[in-house]
Amino acid sequence: MQTSVPYLTADQEADLRETAKRLVAPGRGILAADEPPETMAQRFAGADIKIENTEEVRRKYRELLFTTEGVQEYISGVIFHHETFQQKSKDGIPFPKLLSDRGIIPGIKTDRGMVPLAGTDGETTTQGLDDLGERCAEYRKGGARFVKWRCALKIGLQTPTYLAMMENANVLARYASISQQNGLVPIVEPEVLYNGDHDLQTCQKVTEQVLAFTYKALSDHHVFLEGTLLKPNMVTSGRSFGARSSPQDTARATVTAFSRTIPPAVPGIVFLSGGQSEAESTLNLNAINTCTAAPKPWALSFSFGRALQASVLKAWQGDDKNIDLAQKQFLVRAKANGLATLGQYDEKEAAAADENSLFVEKNEY
Ligand code: 13P
Repeated sequence: MQTSVPYLTADQEADLRETAKRLVAPGRGILAADEPPETMAQRFAGADIKIENTEEVRRKYRELLFTTEGVQEYISGVIFHHETFQQKSKDGIPFPKLLSDRGIIPGIKTDRGMVPLAGTDGETTTQGLDDLGERCAEYRKGGARFVKWRCALKIGLQTPTYLAMMENANVLARYASISQQNGLVPIVEPEVLYNGDHDLQTCQKVTEQVLAFTYKALSDHHVFLEGTLLKPNMVTSGRSFGARSSPQDTARATVTAFSRTIPPAVPGIVFLSGGQSEAESTLNLNAINTCTAAPKPWALSFSFGRALQASVLKAWQGDDKNIDLAQKQFLVRAKANGLATLGQYDEKEAAAADENSLFVEKNEY
């Protein structure tokens, strides 16, 4: 029998628990704005979008998002990329401070991206552990209160392999432990990718396996679950599968998978949008919150990147005179998803939301 020595004080635990709870307060969720500069090049060159990708344009774009009036009602936290964490508003206010002054909790992505797992069929692990403790301490000093680390697992004939599930679960658990020791709530993200032609049942089974590996590793590493959040995929059929799973089927499969694998001690689950359209992401989140197929002892909210930003980018086009319009779009998406966390999204409104797929074959964060 192994022994475990407490490594967080009661105060540290209370602080982490409180931050996690605030991030998933009813009606609110997270904006993932942590796209690295190279990924912003992709986003700025999407369908009907042509925006120059320079550091100053990225700064302006983030300022537009962070200063949207009223959005704090629906957005509890924002995930930054390192570049944005260092940037300031045009009035010289550091972005982390600008957000905390508005009641929005600043967070930051701390992983250093994915690398191949040699000898596998294109599977990956995620890097960045070596100096993570020091970086966490710096970010906490700079105002961050939570962090994100993304791992991705792909569904194929022979994947995900035992090795990939083990390795990714373990790296997530090491990250979570180091983050908590530095006073930061870890968002644990084991994303099962949307890529592929698998059906809904396959996605459900793989998601259950990946989550089971993840929570075993978090337990082995003595991670304080009450001070964590999970960022998973919704359970859907693959992008290239003939038929789309309906919001009701998606919700049933997602909630069933979660009830089998996620401990009730976890305060909240914040979904990624993973390439679904804006309309689909919101409808699915709403259906998940109204689903009664299995117990749901956690808050079920969002940490969307693409599904909160696609219409904003389209409206903005990099032009100052479109800022108002773009901010209106952001507020509409934030509010829609806020309502979906309560199961109160009016489905008729989905007709006005963008149904264009936001799928990217090789999506990098
Ligand atoms: P998407 O919502 O665009 O999938 O991204 C969320 C995210 O932060 C992935 O790590």
